[in-house]
Amino acid sequence: MASVAAVTRALLGKSVLNTGRVATANTGFIKFYSTAPQYENIKVDVVGSKKNVGLIQLNRPKALNALCGALFKELGKAVEEFDTDEKIAAIIITGNEKAFAAGADIKEMQGNTYSGNTRQGFLKDWEAVSNCGKPVIAAVNGFALGGGCELAMMCDIIYAGEKAKFGQPEINIGTIPGAGGTQRLPRYVGKSKAMEIVLTGTFIDAIEAERMGLVSRVFPVEKLLEETIKLAERIGTHSPLIVKMAKQSVNQAYETTLKSGLQFEKSIFYGTFATEDQKEGMTAFIEKRAPNFKNN
Ligand code: CAA
Repeated sequence: MASVAAVTRALLGKSVLNTGRVATANTGFIKFYSTAPQYENIKVDVVGSKKNVGLIQLNRPKALNALCGALFKELGKAVEEFDTDEKIAAIIITGNEKAFAAGADIKEMQGNTYSGNTRQGFLKDWEAVSNCGKPVIAAVNGFALGGGCELAMMCDIIYAGEKAKFGQPEINIGTIPGAGGTQRLPRYVGKSKAMEIVLTGTFIDAIEAERMGLVSRVFPVEKLLEETIKLAERIGTHSPLIVKMAKQSVNQAYETTLKSGLQFEKSIFYGTFATEDQKEGMTAFIEKRAPNFKNN
């Protein structure tokens, strides 16, 4: 049995940061050398020692990464490209030290109308992140407010820097969360906390967010990205096929009753036995060696 820990250590033992491509410093600054398609509102790169982690940085620093329509179109495109790229195991969405994202762009939507929103399906582009089949991890430093908090909650895991601040302050500007905040937040933190956050617009800090279950781990600001890449790389040591099945099954817990969720889980669990990766994983365990997953 000691071999499981040994195998895990062997798989994870290498330096996880591809420091030649991404450098993090105390400022939280990320330096991109990518030849990836150039976007105006985001930066995209592939990082990690195996170059199997897709990194997306929201890049409207002057507007605290306010989520304008153009940004979300680009974000959706980048997420979909990473989702279909077989070399990519997991995707990270991050911002800068001051802001993950301070919400939907208030200046852009100020003049919106009910009929216009309805006709155009305002915010429909935001669904690409939650539709992604691969694990998406939010690395949150600074403000994650309104749509920024909702974007983080669309991700599968939230890691936070210790100065992160979360909130749904839409009530302060005469509206309500419109990208899942009233639905996902209660599932994370329970009704009473969610009501308090949504009805008062109060911000919560990273430690409180972790205590509530909104955030899974908190790190020093300058360590956040490095630790998030480590997490993505660790996920990337597993079979991509089985990771996808596991993600689908956990997500089902949010979509359905316990009884049908358990049935769904069982069908996915049975389904893993139709894969070569299940055979390989269990054989490797018994033979005390690292598995060689084929995504099949
Ligand atoms: N939309 C557009 N611009 C924004 C913005 C937003 N959500 N948040 C910040 N900005 C802009 C500011 O207007 C300012 O621009 P100028 O320099 O051109 O004036 C710039 O970013 C810096 O912001 P501040 O000067 O306000 O920075 P601060 O440090 O004093 O305050 C803050 C930071 C507390 C986050 C404050 O900016 C703030 O309260 N922002 C709005 C937060 C908010 O209400 N978010 C919810 C939006 S609605 C939504 O998201 C709906 C939904 O569910 C989809």
